[in-house]
Amino acid sequence: MSDLTNKNMTDVGAIILGAGMGTRMRSALPKVLHGVGGQPMVSHVLDAVASLDAAWVGVVVAPGFENVAKAVAPIPTAIQQKALGTGHAALAAAELFDGFAGDIFILFGDTPLIRRETLQAMLDRRRAADAPTVVVLGMRPAGENAYGRLIVTPDGVLNRIVEFKDANAEERAAPLCNSGVMLVDGAALFDLLRKVNDDNAKGEFYLTDIVALARSAGGTAAVVEGLESELLGVNDRSDLAQAEAEFQRRKRVAAMTGGATLTAPETVFFSYDTEVGQDVIIEPNVIFGPGSKVHSGAHIRAFSHIEGATVASGAVIGPYARLRPGADIGEGARIGNFVEVKAAKIEAGAKANHLAYIGDAHVGAGANIGAGTITCNYDGYFKHKTDIGAGAFIGSNSSLVAPVNIGAGAIVGAGSAIGRDVPENALAITRAEQSRRDGWAKAFREQKSKAKAAAKKS
Ligand code: UD1
Ligand code: CA
Repeated sequence: MSDLTNKNMTDVGAIILGAGMGTRMRSALPKVLHGVGGQPMVSHVLDAVASLDAAWVGVVVAPGFENVAKAVAPIPTAIQQKALGTGHAALAAAELFDGFAGDIFILFGDTPLIRRETLQAMLDRRRAADAPTVVVLGMRPAGENAYGRLIVTPDGVLNRIVEFKDANAEERAAPLCNSGVMLVDGAALFDLLRKVNDDNAKGEFYLTDIVALARSAGGTAAVVEGLESELLGVNDRSDLAQAEAEFQRRKRVAAMTGGATLTAPETVFFSYDTEVGQDVIIEPNVIFGPGSKVHSGAHIRAFSHIEGATVASGAVIGPYARLRPGADIGEGARIGNFVEVKAAKIEAGAKANHLAYIGDAHVGAGANIGAGTITCNYDGYFKHKTDIGAGAFIGSNSSLVAPVNIGAGAIVGAGSAIGRDVPENALAITRAEQSRRDGWAKAFREQKSKAKAAAKKS
C-alpha cells in the first residue's frame, strides 16, 4: 500500500447528499435509489469514495428515507429535516463529522458516474502547496444546460459560483459549469456552511455559496476539471437512461480491455458487479443481471440471460439460455438453447443441450440431461433437491420428482417420471409398455374415409 493511500485512510471524509425526492423523476422511490447497472445511484457514489479509502463517510437523507438508509448501511446517515437546499443538506451531516479535521468531499447521490481518478485529482489539488480551502470539480458541457456557473478570473482563480437561475446573461455565458462535487478543508467546512443564507432566486441555502464565503474569510478556491460524461446529474428518467448508457459503455470497454471478445458490444448489458475473464466470447444480445462471473475462455452465445451465476472456463452457454441465481456451471459444461438453470451446480463436462429446467440440483461430471428434462423441485410449499450422479444419462422428456437421487452412471429412460432413487448404473424407466397392431392405421383411414363419403351423400 502506498503512503498516499495510508494518508487517505485517515484524512479523507465524504458527505453524499441524497435528501432530495427528485420530483422530476415522478417516482415513489427516492431519486438516489434509482438504479444504474442494477445498483442504486447512491451506491455507485459510495463505491467511488470507498476506492479512496475514505475514513469518514455519511449520507444525508430526508425524514422517512429508511429505504435509502438500508441501501447504504453500514454507512451512517444524517437526516435533513426539510429540503432547504444543498448547503443546508451538507450542514445536516455536521453531527457525523464531530472531531474530524481531514478533507471532506461533498458529492451528490444523483451523480453516479464519478470516477476514482477524478476524486484523486481533486485531492492532489487540495494538497498542493497553496492548499485551497475549497476545490470545485468543474466541467464544460457541450450543449445548453442549467448548471451553476463557475466565475473564474483570467488567471484561473475561482471567485464564486452562481446558480443558473441567479445568473445574468454574461455569467450564463461562462463555459465552466459546476458539477456539484467539492472538496473542502474539514476544519473550515461547517463554519462556512453556517454562514450560507437563502437570499437568492430559489430561496434555498446553496452549497455553492461557500466558495465566495471561503474567499472573504481569507481562503482560496480552485477548480479541477472533469468530463461531462462522468458528471451527469440525473434529474429525470431521460438523464437516468443517459447515465445507464454511459455506464454500459464503460463496462463494455473494460471487458474488452480485459481480453474479452464482444461481437456486438452495444447489445451486451452488464451489471455493476459483472466479472468477465480473459478470452471470454460474448455474442450479441446477452444480458447480465447482478452477481455474475464468467471465467476465462467461456463462450456466452447470443440471447442468453445470466444473473447471479458463475460460468467456469471453457463452458458454453446458449444461445437462448437462462442462468438464474445460484447457477454454477463447471468447466467445459454445456447449457444449450431454452435451458433454465437455478440454484444448481453443473459439474465439469455435464451437458443439458436443449429445453430443460434444472433447479435446486446437483449434476455430476459428464452427466447428460436429455431434451425436455424437468427437475420437479417445488411441491407448492417447499423446494426439494435433485442429485444426479456423475456420468448419468437422463432420457428426454423425463420428470425428476424431487427429492430424488440418480446414482452415478445410471440411465433414466426417455419419458419417465422418476420419484424414487435410482441406484448407480441401474436403468429406471416408468413409461407404459408399447403395444402394436399391424395394419391398424391403414384400416382406420379406410373406414373413416368411407364414413365421411357416406355422410356427404345424405
Ligand atoms: C446543483 C448545484 C449546481 C450544479 C448541479 C450539478 C447547488 C446550489 N447547485 O444543482 O450548481 O450545477 O447541482 O448537478 O448546489 N439535495 C439534498 N437536500 C436539498 C437539496 C438537494 O439532499 O435540500 C441533494 C439532492 O438529493 C441531490 C443533490 O443534493 O442529490 C443535488 O440537488 P439538486 O436539487 O439536484 O441540485 P441542482 O439544482 O441540480
Ligand atoms: Ca441535480
